[in-house]
Amino acid sequence: MVVVLDRVEEMRRIDKGDALGLCIKTPEYCRDAVQRARQVNIPKELKVSEKVLIHYGKPRHIIVAGMGGSAIVGEMLHDWLMEELPIPIEVCRDYLLPAYAGEDTLVFAVSYSGNTEETLSAFIDAIKRKCMVASITSGGHLLSFSQRLQIPHVTVPSGFAPRVAVPYIFFPLPVLMEKMGVRLEVEDEMEEVARVLQELNEEVTPQVPTAENPSKKLALELRKTIPVVYGFRQFKAIARRLKCQFNENSKIPGVFDAFPELNHNEIVGWEAPEALTERFSVVLIRDRDEPPEIGHRIEATKTLALQKAHKVLEIRARGNRALAKMFSVMYIGDLASIYLAILLGVDPTPVPIIDKLKAEMGRRLNTAERLTSELQKVTRK
Ligand code: PA5
Repeated sequence: MVVVLDRVEEMRRIDKGDALGLCIKTPEYCRDAVQRARQVNIPKELKVSEKVLIHYGKPRHIIVAGMGGSAIVGEMLHDWLMEELPIPIEVCRDYLLPAYAGEDTLVFAVSYSGNTEETLSAFIDAIKRKCMVASITSGGHLLSFSQRLQIPHVTVPSGFAPRVAVPYIFFPLPVLMEKMGVRLEVEDEMEEVARVLQELNEEVTPQVPTAENPSKKLALELRKTIPVVYGFRQFKAIARRLKCQFNENSKIPGVFDAFPELNHNEIVGWEAPEALTERFSVVLIRDRDEPPEIGHRIEATKTLALQKAHKVLEIRARGNRALAKMFSVMYIGDLASIYLAILLGVDPTPVPIIDKLKAEMGRRLNTAERLTSELQKVTRK
């Protein structure tokens, strides 16, 4: 069973949706996403109706509205920039925006499919409040609504699972922020991501045997256990991302948390009987530049609390700057979740339960018609 990871043909037979083939093109997606976003024009003002005039300028707050694989890019943006950016970034995973959202708020509506009802509702809410709205999508209602109203939008290629398209929906965020006067100067940092991931491909692609492949090794270690991913600071969103990848690709439960908060609650859970704790493997995200207070916490937690876990594993960040480090951990983990799916004999790509739930909600709430008519009300002259 284990040798399946060293048989590329057999892996292909299980990985029907070619999750591996698509994932290893991530470095290309990063560069393409930047190019696409650069072509978008931000108007000075946009008249949506007689009542709604949106002024685009330098925002005082940023909200990223999205769900699941699309929402995570907002959290990544937050973690990446929180130490430098003097304006707050919040992620809205809900139907309505927080009360403070207004004319000086930049709202990114991010939905890979363009048909996620929570994101579409938040998008309409943002227009009603005259927020500076921009959207990122591959199609669906979000694209057609944006086109109809001339809302600035980045169109990304369709045909991926949303979680594969993360680079496509992440990189437009800083590019559009800069176009709106938020000074970031992150050209080199963005370019480093593609370079580091390209270098990583020498180690993590399907052709590299398990013995030399960190992602395959991680998948093997995690087999038959529930992964618990712990991050810190700029790796908080990445910890959540990896947990979600184990859910959606490997089709197993997962847990995530972050230092230092987990030292104040989560660690107590490890006092449970070994019969319970041995079902969990811990994946620690590590960085050679982690602050001493975090490094000591991680080491102390290993000694004091994690002894009863099945395994304690680490993913070490590569690269020099924060963004490349974040993406490198994500990349090693993403591929591990796909290899784990293959080890478990499941096709990583389909997520029928999510699709069924969306369809059921669409039926119950009559989503498409309801949102279209709401949009008509907002834009009525
Ligand atoms: O990974 C997934 O498929 C989900 O988490 C989706 O991203 C989520 O349901 C939202 O869909 P979308 O990204 O198309 O807005």
